[in-house]
Amino acid sequence: MNRPLKLGFFGFGCVGQGLYDILQKIDFQVSIERICVKDPQKPRSLPQKFFTFNYDDILEDPTINVVVEMISDADEAYEIVKKALEQGKDVVTANKKMVAEHLPELLAIQEATGTSLLYEAAVCGSIPIIRTLAEYYDNELLYSVGGIFNGSSNYILTKVLQENLDYADALKQAQDLGFAEADPTLDVGGFDAKYKLCIVAAQAYGLLVRPEAVFNYGIDTLSSYDARFAQEKGFKIKLVAEVIKLDEHQVSLAVLPRFVNADHYLYHVENEYNAVIVAAAFSQKQVLVGKGAGGHPTGSAVLSDISALRYGYKYEYKKSKRNRALQLSQALHKEVYIRYHEEQDLALFDFAEISVRYSEAGFKYVIGVVSLQNLVDVREELLARRIFIADTGREVPQPTAIRQEADALTAA
Ligand code: HSE
Repeated sequence: MNRPLKLGFFGFGCVGQGLYDILQKIDFQVSIERICVKDPQKPRSLPQKFFTFNYDDILEDPTINVVVEMISDADEAYEIVKKALEQGKDVVTANKKMVAEHLPELLAIQEATGTSLLYEAAVCGSIPIIRTLAEYYDNELLYSVGGIFNGSSNYILTKVLQENLDYADALKQAQDLGFAEADPTLDVGGFDAKYKLCIVAAQAYGLLVRPEAVFNYGIDTLSSYDARFAQEKGFKIKLVAEVIKLDEHQVSLAVLPRFVNADHYLYHVENEYNAVIVAAAFSQKQVLVGKGAGGHPTGSAVLSDISALRYGYKYEYKKSKRNRALQLSQALHKEVYIRYHEEQDLALFDFAEISVRYSEAGFKYVIGVVSLQNLVDVREELLARRIFIADTGREVPQPTAIRQEADALTAA
């Protein structure tokens, strides 16, 4: 099948412009009918006749069969995508917050209307992880999927730790380069990575989880002491999002900073690059690395989805139908570095074990083992007290028999 596609774009910012540039440079037969944008005053690189400020010029136009949604407001994006699917149009979206927050409803509409909703560009920019999980890993026993899912915070960490740039200057650079979200708290607070992680969990395990149930802690409480600690120990700090299968019934999801040493796959992933590590029983470890933000890298993922619609591609969600018993668990224990201010801050934690306590004027930290549930319970308080936490990455004894079944299979 090579069906003719008539596109309606929503948004012509960094990603929209990037996609448009790509389409000018390749031999790809597609027609851009209209581009819906918000601001009539903004100077545009295309003639005015392409643009409209009214959604319905696209949504109510029966000749447009594909909506390409590339705006940043997740609520508006939801209204657009919902209506487009209801009108029988296929949709390509880059909006991770919107997909993560509304996936169950959108799937129901997709099913009822026979349309297709694709979102490769919503997760890790140019890295083709969504279709890889949906198609290639449709039967593997996946232990975990995780890595660096946010380009802006990785850019900031690179500049602060390796180039000794101020945090605020590094953030400003990430914004100027078009990597950051309109509200950069989404990046540096770990929310953007969490939305992407929820989408990954849906495609890796068939688990549809509400983002607000998932723990996220970002890099916005990072201090020069934490950078010094990492540098002295030969570590880098990465903001890591990870979904881990604990057993046949439980899956754990979390986003938090992690110390990585030079042997770790993520150690050399710098700037706006993202990386996804897929750990599985038979293929074992695979690492996909690529640019996670920016107009052209993200535009390339949107292009791939548009191209897939020419042959009627849609995600099948086979794992959701198969793995109905899987649930989110907060039982996982992690060893974390906690940089705090007052001794009473430590009362927030229910340590299973403490291995290091350090204190000097202005700089106090402990390294100890806590449950994810404990971190979920005190998250707001940690932020209010400007406490920085980071996973040390050390394997610690777990209350649940993680990987038991898969280990038995690989040993066989
Ligand atoms: N703000 C996002 C990031 C853009 O920095 O990764 C790509 O999703």
